[in-house]
Order: sequence, then C-alpha cells, then structure tokens
Amino acid sequence: MSDAAFWDAEAEAFDESADHGLRDPVVREAWRSLLGGVLPSAPSDVADLGCGTGSLALLAAAAGHRVTGVDFAPRMLEQAARKAAAADLPVSWVLGDASAPPLPDGGFDVVLERHVLWALPDAAAAIVAWSRLLRPGGALVLIEGRWWTGAGLRADDVRRLLEAAGRTAEIESLPDPGLWGGPLRDERYLVVSRTR
Ligand SMILES: C[S@@+](CC[C@H](N)C(=O)[O-])C[C@H]1O[C@@H](n2cnc3c(N)ncnc32)[C@H](O)[C@@H]1O
Repeated sequence: MSDAAFWDAEAEAFDESADHGLRDPVVREAWRSLLGGVLPSAPSDVADLGCGTGSLALLAAAAGHRVTGVDFAPRMLEQAARKAAAADLPVSWVLGDASAPPLPDGGFDVVLERHVLWALPDAAAAIVAWSRLLRPGGALVLIEGRWWTGAGLRADDVRRLLEAAGRTAEIESLPDPGLWGGPLRDERYLVVSRTR
C-alpha cells in the first residue's frame, strides 16, 4: 500500500478522534484560540500542508484567512471539501505532495502543518521547500509531537532541522488536554519559525 493509499484508508474515520474532527466544542475552541494566537491578522494567505480532512484549514478560513490545503490522499481531500461546503467556507484544495508543494514561491504569509513533518521521508528538504513558499516576514507554524508509540519528532529534533535551514525556532509545549480531548502521555508542541 502506498503512503497515500494508507491515508486514504484512514479518511472516513479520521475525524472520530477528538483532535482530528474538532467536534467537541471545548477541543474546537482550544484549537481556534491556539491558531488565533499564532496567525497574523486576517486576511492572510495560509497554506495547510498535509491538511487531511481540513480541520485546521477550516478554522483558519472561518477566521477570515485565504487558505489553501494540500494533501496527497484524495479521500482526505474529499472529506475536507465536503466539510468546507457544509460550512460554506472557501478553501482551495490541492492534490499534491507536501514535500514539494505545487504552490507558488513567495505566495503565503503562513505555512501551517500539523502532524505531517514527521511522516515525510526528508524533513530537512521539506523545511527548505516550505520556506520558499513564504513571503518576507512570513512564518512556518508547525504542530508536531513525539508519541508514546515512539513515532514522531522531538521538539529538539525540529529545532535542529530549522536552525540548519537558517531559521528561528520558537517552541511552545502543548500539554492542554483541551487540545487533545484528554490527558497526554507524550510530547506535543508548536513551533513558530521565521527566517533569521
Ligand atoms: C496525521 S494526518 C494529519 C492531518 C491534518 N494535518 C490534521 O492535523 O488533522 C497526516 C496527513 O498528512 C498527509 N500526508 C502525509 N504525507 C504526505 C505527503 N508527502 N504529501 C501530502 N500529504 C501527505 C496524509 O494524507 C494525512 O492527511
């Protein structure tokens, strides 16, 4: 099974996890507030890479941003487009590889991703590619973790990758159970990164 086929198979049930579907108002509000604290004033141009079913993309669109969601799993994008239509929110959905997004260089104020960097074969190359999408003054907003299963990236690993690419790394731990729909037993964090 290719990686995209793996994620396609996950698509239908993906939003059943509290932090994926954001169906619980407490969880939804926690993510709305977190994004509100790191995105610039709306409207800005936001690329959500590996957007999955589009939950964060839709929160950003609801806040007035112009959002493009990229994913390589067609069934994930189908779910995202269905949710956008139901909410009457205009998001551009693009089928493509988050490692080398088919988006214009210098076209975005924010490149956002949640739980995607860890899954890419060459995270260092992805950070370079993502940096090219940013306008001067723009930021990478990365939400990552190192799960109890052993999968994922530690915050220090992401810091090293960003610094090697000539970028800053402002890391915030995300222990709030409200974000995840329950208590955590592993490492979750947000990184805001700008060009040095
Ligand atoms: C753990 S899910 C996270 C989805 C979404 N970012 C969220 O936080 O709800 C990982 C997503 O990344 C996508 N993905 C993984 N590798 C990708 C790649 N190389 N190009 C595009 N999408 C990718 C998967 O299809 C899946 O939708």
